[in-house]
Amino acid sequence: PKSETVGPLVGAVVQGTNSTRFLVFNSSTTELVTYHQVELVQDYPKEGWVEQDPKEILQSVYECIEQTGQKLAKLNVDASAIKAIGISNQRETTVIWDKFTGEPLYNAVVWLDLRTQTTVEKLSKKIPGNNNFVKSKTGLPLSTYFSAVKLRWLLDNVQKVQNALDEGRLLFGTVDSWLIWNMTGGTNGGLHCTDVTNASRTMLFNIHYLEWDKELCSFFEIPMSILPTVLSSSEIYGKVSQGVLEGVPISGCLGDQSAALVGHMCFQEGQAKSTYGTGCFLLCNTGRKCIFSEHGLLTTVAYKLGKDKPACYALEGSVAIAGAAARWLRDNLGIIDSPQEIETLAKEVGTSYGCYFVPAFSGLYAPYWEPSARGILCGITQFTNKSHIAFAALEAICFQTREILEAMNHDCGIPLSHLQADGALTQNRVLMQLQADILHIPVIKSTMPETTALGAAIAAGAAEGVEVWSLKTDTLPNIKVEKFEPQINTTESETRYATWKKAVQKSMGWVT
Ligand code: G3P
Repeated sequence: PKSETVGPLVGAVVQGTNSTRFLVFNSSTTELVTYHQVELVQDYPKEGWVEQDPKEILQSVYECIEQTGQKLAKLNVDASAIKAIGISNQRETTVIWDKFTGEPLYNAVVWLDLRTQTTVEKLSKKIPGNNNFVKSKTGLPLSTYFSAVKLRWLLDNVQKVQNALDEGRLLFGTVDSWLIWNMTGGTNGGLHCTDVTNASRTMLFNIHYLEWDKELCSFFEIPMSILPTVLSSSEIYGKVSQGVLEGVPISGCLGDQSAALVGHMCFQEGQAKSTYGTGCFLLCNTGRKCIFSEHGLLTTVAYKLGKDKPACYALEGSVAIAGAAARWLRDNLGIIDSPQEIETLAKEVGTSYGCYFVPAFSGLYAPYWEPSARGILCGITQFTNKSHIAFAALEAICFQTREILEAMNHDCGIPLSHLQADGALTQNRVLMQLQADILHIPVIKSTMPETTALGAAIAAGAAEGVEVWSLKTDTLPNIKVEKFEPQINTTESETRYATWKKAVQKSMGWVT
């Protein structure tokens, strides 16, 4: 087709923990036209530490855009048909750089990183007033997961970072800020901004007033001058300064879990989705209400789709390790050659044969928030083989999702009747069926798995001044879905779930 025949296109950068992708959607049909993906390296310099090279992240974005441009050319589509791009990114991961040279001052400290455990302990001792000080403002528990403690650690432990601060050269951002600053010109006038969803994961952002919180910044001793400007998730931030997309507006920005919520078009209160990526994140839209969990969930900004639009909130159940367990089976144990092989192995046996795997590599997140938990494999016998372990790894993802779904049902009062799923792992049919069996509710996955990218593209395409997309759900094309109904009897799945709970108890308290 000629570019005129494909209609306005919208691009989306999806910068995840494992990989970077650039995808192009046809705004008239929501069809994915083409995409390119690059897998990323993660460094584990010490036990519990997880880092990435910010420059490699940036280069991977440029490479994906470049390669996608070439793929479009092969389809006879001119890249100039791309009217806007959106960004969705791994959240919390902390980047600091020099505003005059553009050089990162340290590796990105990834959300999974546990080095800040002592920082967290110290901070929790100096919490003013009551324990609710941080949570009531941010919706988050004081944990190694969020950016503020990572930034505090960098200022305390890396002299270069403190020097840059003293000399007025330091900028902080989550990955979206790092990308937007570079893509809009970097040292030649790059924009230092973020959106409300990413800001709400830093633990420095007041989710009620939608602004950086002075008291929190002083509690964490973070100077406000190094923080990006917070904007909505859908507006023109600036234009791409170089490459095939030169001049194209960047007009959407959302943390990846928020982007997936938008991509599923969960715009109504009570609608929820679960994304199976490196981790697994279940978000339920609570509309304009900030609901505080009594059961270990987070309160977070879901999206704010336009400067003058209100913010909507979500309750979130965060599981740190989902797809990362498959990657670990491949990279550390070598029992599979590709993460996809886990499905073949699990299917072969159809049971873990009593083996339970709690992949608490980064402690346990929701609903436990227990940094001292560590991974365990238990219930192993002479009979256990790698297929049983593969099955147990998939079951672990499903059990963890059940734990957060139960918490969600308690907090929301109305149990979810089905679960909308997306993410790379939803291609795994064994996992999807197991999930329905363990939850006792249908699991619905869209046949187009790129919901996160679609959400970022929708936010970009619907921004004022772009408007190639409308946010009215009835005008957005229907996306085909596949439904997995629960098949096993509840007694069997309840017994398995109860044993999982025992395994979780065993995984806790390893580190004192
Ligand atoms: O909070 C971390 C999350 O945003 C990472 O997402 O897709 O890399 O698992 P993902």
